[in-house]
Amino acid sequence: MKEFKILAIIVALVGITYYGIEPYAHHVMHPEVKAADFTFGDLKNVDTSLAGNIDNGKALVEANCIACHSIEKAGHPQIMSNADAAAAYGVVPPDLSSSGRIYDKNYLANFIFDPVSAMHLSHKYPVGGAKAFSMPAYNWMKPQEIMDVVAYLQSIAPKVAGKDAHKETFADACGRCHSMGYAKFEATTSKEAIKTYMGASAPDLSQHIKSRKEHFLHSFINDPQLLLAGTSMPRVGLSEKAQEEVIAYMEEVGDSKKAERESVGLWVMLYTFVFAILAYLWKRKIWSGLH
Ligand code: HEC
Ligand code: HEC
Repeated sequence: MKEFKILAIIVALVGITYYGIEPYAHHVMHPEVKAADFTFGDLKNVDTSLAGNIDNGKALVEANCIACHSIEKAGHPQIMSNADAAAAYGVVPPDLSSSGRIYDKNYLANFIFDPVSAMHLSHKYPVGGAKAFSMPAYNWMKPQEIMDVVAYLQSIAPKVAGKDAHKETFADACGRCHSMGYAKFEATTSKEAIKTYMGASAPDLSQHIKSRKEHFLHSFINDPQLLLAGTSMPRVGLSEKAQEEVIAYMEEVGDSKKAERESVGLWVMLYTFVFAILAYLWKRKIWSGLH
């Protein structure tokens, strides 16, 4: 009877810890946030149902964008060194070769129309504020012209897949600010320049797959303000697929042994199970004389 009472007390205490304290701590430390929104439904300035004209888009990009951005895959190399570009714009403008592949179409169109509101940075660059954002808004372009630009960017984006895509997406979407030391990837903008430009250092992301975990990264990259209100990290606007590629890259670099570790786990459990049976049989044999 005594054993049953002890068991009941243990079950009650474990129950309180599990169902009372743990979810409470979880809800304080990891508050529930809205699920990632890959439609970027808050952006409605450009009618993205318009079909774009690639040739006109090419002309518009050549007239408006390549003064700041390189587009290596379309034969427009970077015209300044990284250091000079960072000095001129605060941060090195990203190469646009893969933009049509990695960014969500609705985000990209609305970003060109108004970068600050698309990136959720109105708190840093309020309308009429003293500081202008480093990329001008193309809100003077007609929606049709913006969709032409988008169609052109989509037409030139290289078709890559697998690990090449993971790396390219990281380099083009995050690589102007973040390094990935474990993969010997150096951000195009220097640490000091980023700090001056953003007001905060952009951390090396080699280990964030372990320290932050996939679930956090999925929500955070989709909309940093939801998890870290007031952060200077911009919303980057990746499509769901591209965001998965970035996270896959972070995992390949920061947790390359994950698959191996998980497959070993099964064997360890099997080993413990067999060992427990053997230990039990051994105990029975040794104590058999006494019982
Ligand atoms: C005066 C220089 C300048 C011009 C002109 C310019 N950009 Fe940018 N662009 C930048 C800078 C700087 C950034 C990075 C800003 C940041 O991360 O804070 C950027 C970022 C971007 C991004 C990344 C968006 C994201 O979510 O990360 C895209 C896409 C882009 N520009 C497209 C264009 C297109 C298309 C044009 C022409 C219609 C253009 N830019 C013209 C300076 C420029
Ligand atoms: C224009 C620069 C810029 C770009 C582009 C950028 N980041 Fe950041 N990121 C920052 C800065 C600055 C911080 C630090 C924010 C702070 O301390 O408020 C940061 C913070 C982070 C953090 C840490 C959040 C935490 O919990 O501490 C992660 C993870 C991250 N970024 C991932 C990414 C990924 C992935 C991409 C590309 C899809 C990306 N960032 C693109 C500037 C950038």
